Amino acid sequence: MLTGKKILLIISGGIAAYKCLELIRLIKKQGGSVQVILTKAGEKFVTPLSVASLSGEKVFTDLFNLTDETEIGHIELSRAADLVVVAPASADIMARMANGIASDLATTALLATDKPVLVAPAMNVRMWEHAATQRNIETLKSDGILFVGPDEGDMACGEFGPGRMSEPAEILAVINESLSEAAGPLDGKTVLITAGPTHEPIDPVRYIANRSSGKQGYALAQAAYDLGARVILVSGPVNLPLPEGVEVLPVETASDMLSACLEELPVDIAICAAAVADWRVETPANEKMKKQGTGDVPDLSLRQNPDILHTIANHQTARPKLVIGFAAETQDVIENAQQKLKSKGCDLIVANNVGSGSDVMGGAKNTVHIVSHETVKDWPEMPKRQVANQLMALLAEQLESK
Ligand SMILES: Cc1cc2nc3c(=O)[nH]c(=O)nc-3n(C[C@H](O)[C@H](O)[C@H](O)COP(=O)(O)O)c2cc1C
Repeated sequence: MLTGKKILLIISGGIAAYKCLELIRLIKKQGGSVQVILTKAGEKFVTPLSVASLSGEKVFTDLFNLTDETEIGHIELSRAADLVVVAPASADIMARMANGIASDLATTALLATDKPVLVAPAMNVRMWEHAATQRNIETLKSDGILFVGPDEGDMACGEFGPGRMSEPAEILAVINESLSEAAGPLDGKTVLITAGPTHEPIDPVRYIANRSSGKQGYALAQAAYDLGARVILVSGPVNLPLPEGVEVLPVETASDMLSACLEELPVDIAICAAAVADWRVETPANEKMKKQGTGDVPDLSLRQNPDILHTIANHQTARPKLVIGFAAETQDVIENAQQKLKSKGCDLIVANNVGSGSDVMGGAKNTVHIVSHETVKDWPEMPKRQVANQLMALLAEQLESK
């Protein structure tokens, strides 16, 4: 099944292009989604309208289309997919791919992609057997490009031999195979991540909060998903786009966050990246508190919030194999992180300095220290997304050795 999988289908100019309409239907039937790029020659064989009607998505044809480029740039288009499929692949497009030529939207996307590429060639038997085509195929294979077909049989041009595009059902089977091979190291694992601040109500309009933006936790969720995990993101109130493919559970308070987390156990990895408020108002007012005009101020009696990291790390029946905490400190960062690691009973603390002058809270970059029971590793300043990728890769490695 292809549930949740995204295929970028490039249709180049060949008679077999009509078979791709069936391929699109089959992918969609299996729960996948298909974004299509049609080459100029491809448009002569199938229309953007019939492709869009079947895929249910906008069809892309032009590299220099400003509207398309602002909607989804050609680089993003090439990377948003889990797999790029070129079907039918003309002799021409394979020649351009083999030589790194990026002369239209299709070949630019093919050169820019970081995803596996599967090619289904289709052409006249002489074109297929030509030394130039065979040279290009060797080059593409050595570049890691995957192939399905071509089959042998009667050709549209009346000749017989190899060159017929594989049937859509066969291409679909290879798509399924390629995607399972492309599975990441966290395939089949579940990762629970908390992110953002919590809001602790004072009355219906006021609350206690903190400056956490949720960016690091959201980046971690995306990175875990990219490595193949099922990701549950328990998120405090933030203003961020939802990460792709991730199950998001929005919460307000620390108590809500704890309940949501406990309901999701067991999981393989829990990462507590949220900046949970330490205290809440003991009895929030039911109505908006009014200024009395006497100069008296309300007496906000505070209570300690539940400790989510400690609760998960010490769970009697469903402790995740790896429990990771974040420590935002303004002084003695490493010492406090080491202390926190012991007192919470978790496996790793990701510590960062959020003191004045640092742009960590709300910023796009982070400088972290990975504090384990054995070592402290100082990572250089880098974008939060990169911290997330490196950290998830490290956790995937540690999980494997557990
Ligand atoms: C009727 C017709 C059928 C064609 N069928 C094929 C084909 O099956 N395979 C192929 O490689 N080229 C075929 N071509 C030639 C390609 O369309 C041509 O090489 C074109 O430049 C490919 O452009 P593209 O790779 O950007 O799609 C055909 C051309 C015509 C006019």
